[in-house]
Amino acid sequence: MNRAPPIIQGALCSMNCLAALLGVFLGLKPVIGRDASQSQPNFLLLLADDLGIGDIGCYGNSTIRTPNIDRLAEDGVRLTQHLAAEAVCTPSRAAFLTGRYPIRTGMTSGNGHRVLQWAAGAGGLPAEEITFAKILKEQGYVTGLIGKWHLGLNCHSSSDHCHHPLSHGFQHFLGMPLGMMGDCAVAEPSEKRMKLQRRLHLCSQVAAVASLTLAAGKLTRLIRAPRWMLVLVLAATTAMFAAASRHVGDFIIYADCFLMRNHTVTQQPLRLERVTGLMLREAETFLQRNKHHPFMLLVSFLHVHIPLVTTEDFHRRSKHGPYGDNVEEMDWMVGQILDTLDREGLTDNTLVYFASDHGGSLESRVGHVQLGGWNGGYRGGKGMGGWEGGIRVPGIFRWPGVLPAGRVVDQPTSMMDVFPTVVLLGGGAEPKDRVIDGRNLLPLLRGETQHSDHEFLLHYCEVFLHAARWVQRDRGRVWKVHFMTPNFHPEGAGACYGSAVCPCFGDVTEHDPPLLFDISADPGETHPLNPDSEPEFHEVVGKLRQEAVRQWSSLSQIHQQLGTIYNIWRPWLQPRCGEFPHYGCDLEE
Ligand SMILES: *[C@@H]1O[C@H](CO)[C@@H](O)[C@H](O)[C@H]1NC(C)=O
Repeated sequence: MNRAPPIIQGALCSMNCLAALLGVFLGLKPVIGRDASQSQPNFLLLLADDLGIGDIGCYGNSTIRTPNIDRLAEDGVRLTQHLAAEAVCTPSRAAFLTGRYPIRTGMTSGNGHRVLQWAAGAGGLPAEEITFAKILKEQGYVTGLIGKWHLGLNCHSSSDHCHHPLSHGFQHFLGMPLGMMGDCAVAEPSEKRMKLQRRLHLCSQVAAVASLTLAAGKLTRLIRAPRWMLVLVLAATTAMFAAASRHVGDFIIYADCFLMRNHTVTQQPLRLERVTGLMLREAETFLQRNKHHPFMLLVSFLHVHIPLVTTEDFHRRSKHGPYGDNVEEMDWMVGQILDTLDREGLTDNTLVYFASDHGGSLESRVGHVQLGGWNGGYRGGKGMGGWEGGIRVPGIFRWPGVLPAGRVVDQPTSMMDVFPTVVLLGGGAEPKDRVIDGRNLLPLLRGETQHSDHEFLLHYCEVFLHAARWVQRDRGRVWKVHFMTPNFHPEGAGACYGSAVCPCFGDVTEHDPPLLFDISADPGETHPLNPDSEPEFHEVVGKLRQEAVRQWSSLSQIHQQLGTIYNIWRPWLQPRCGEFPHYGCDLEE
């Protein structure tokens, strides 16, 4: 359908050859024809940050305005059981790009580190991992990433770029290596900032107490160095820690909230009020520049993560406070990008995908003002690896003429499925030397099959298996088992208020027997089935346990990229611009 009949292709080819010959005669660069790639569609992948499935009109929200995303769904295929591989950014995005569970790639931890914490940490997507960007690049695509990365930067020096997007198949990058977070606006609440502040404050107190004790002369007999010198050193240490604790916020803004264009830091700190316009302009020029080549552009929005940077035009536009304003602005951005696609005549040959990296954050709120997303009728939210609200995300595909408009697919699908789908459409092949957990979605999207290719989907929280899903094809049922669920605070609140996210271990309940839900009949997970009265209980649980063991034994040994040693700030890995003592720059003007 997207391919011209052979005779026309032949004609196109000879025309291109002629043009190329002519070009050579006229001393022009040879024209690189598009005939060879005519069957390769473009890919425009739109990924929101922290957006809840209940935040969008076409997923049932009647009070928020998301006309552009809704239109995408009307013209394309809407997935209602589209699942992130993890409920937080770093692992979910790693799985999306590689088609593999984060436990396979090491993009997780077992000690409470949920995401990469610093731009100057050493962890990140390992060089051996293959992203779909890398394969598409080899297939002749121009590949670009605009926006959030959050999959690491450097390993040994501040410029080895071992985990950088450009080392993972993207040829163009403009965006934030880490991502938007509360720390990027000092006024926002931030757990990281508060924790650091508390630690530095404690250090300054310890140093102050020590210096006072010494000054009092009680301990000096035990130490050989002259008393006054020690007192001075300790007093200086006190002052240093105290000053540092006061300036933690400014420090984090420099350390983490900056823009890179390819390998260069171009804006440090990030100018919040400018970034939306900058991203849109970049997307527009990318599409214009590459309209004659097959391309893959991933626009990874900084919306709708706190601090909810919204331009003036969208302030107080929605019925849902600063969060709703931010969602509506993002929808407008989607519209702007799709308009460019239209204007450049690219719509019919471009597969557009829209999703969120995981569910909305219930814990993001100040007082009674909700700053995180809404997950509709699904239980739980961001950070919860098992409950549906943390992992069930919007998922929309549009490709006019190829995918039926207005189709709705209720079968379980995974964000990891994007990997094989775009790789195969782009003319590439799935790597054979590793397990790919994603499945080609095209037959399901086109309606050639009614069934998901997934029989099982496992739902991890860090390395801990919290839940699992079984598609019982012959009965048309989807079962879900919870082995572990987080304890809510306050009890029954449905979230872990008081912390940023619920933990994966420790303050959790292990269920024996596990909780079983029939997700096809009870998507809100409100009625756990009784082991005594549900005849299939033991078969379902047994099957999922077996699958978990099978998957576990298929894992190879890898470094935990999010473990503590990789996930601390290393001064020598800090990317920066400007010269001592005047760090900072803005080259994006
Ligand atoms: C729509 O989204 C907003 C913002 O997250 C939320 O507060 C509201 O409850 C949602 N409304 C419906 C009807 O789902």
